Amino acid sequence: MKLQDSVIVITGGGQGLGRAMAEYLAAKGVKLALIDLMPEKLEEAVAACKAAGSEAKAYTCNVAKEEDIEKTFKAINDDFGQMNGLINNAGILRDGLMVKHRDGEIVKRMSLAEWQAVMDVNLTGVFLCGREAATHMVSNGDQGVIINIASISRAGNMGQSNYSAAKAGVSALVPVWAKELARHGIRVMGIAPGFIETEMTASMKAEALEKMTAGIPLRRMGKPEEIASTAAFIFENDYLSGRMIEVDGALRL
Ligand code: NAI
Repeated sequence: MKLQDSVIVITGGGQGLGRAMAEYLAAKGVKLALIDLMPEKLEEAVAACKAAGSEAKAYTCNVAKEEDIEKTFKAINDDFGQMNGLINNAGILRDGLMVKHRDGEIVKRMSLAEWQAVMDVNLTGVFLCGREAATHMVSNGDQGVIINIASISRAGNMGQSNYSAAKAGVSALVPVWAKELARHGIRVMGIAPGFIETEMTASMKAEALEKMTAGIPLRRMGKPEEIASTAAFIFENDYLSGRMIEVDGALRL
């Protein structure tokens, strides 16, 4: 796919990986529709995309709310008149052991609310946005690409029952959608990042972060631009579909 003048939607585009991918693609002439819960962050990201030389618009919306996401994708399609890509990137963490035991007692359990919050955003949100993007692409007759952002945790990370299950789920959707949408000229890929320097990982305890970095064979965390350049590569390579690309410095959980 040619990046210049294509229209790409990025969820969670207000900060972190979403914003980094938006700026990177803007510099290559992509028009961006950025979705996030945080309007101020969105405005900053839109300004950064414009400064990088392209068009961008902000849409404040919760990816987990079906009605809102339907309206938002319709508005994006009306505003830009085409849709060529979606990066399903919005995600949250609610980490904790399923059952925490100390001094002979169960001291904490992962609550249903912690489980459900992550499922709603990281799995249901990806389904809803993927469905809406595919609906408009197919109806318009636009060729395009959907990228699901998973995580190395899809393999199963301690303390992340909710997050690991959701990320395994969005990885499973990649070959399903690739097979279903190929006839419409739509490719579907996933990226499973390792630990990348963003606000999300900055919120981890310093001690945990240090221990984790020491275990990465390349001995450093990844940079948001390294995920952004992977996304651009996926958009541009027309024979990539139905697969995951792991960008993790050789770390294995
Ligand atoms: P982040 O927390 O810095 O940014 C996430 C963005 O998503 C925020 O702007 C937030 O407002 C937005 N968001 C959250 N819930 C939303 C909702 N319901 N509706 C709309 N927007 C919402 O996170 P980061 O690090 O940029 O992560 C982006 C994606 O990459 C996530 O899916 C995350 O799971 C994944 N990832 C990140 C890794 C890392 O090391 N940073 C590693 C592996 C995966």
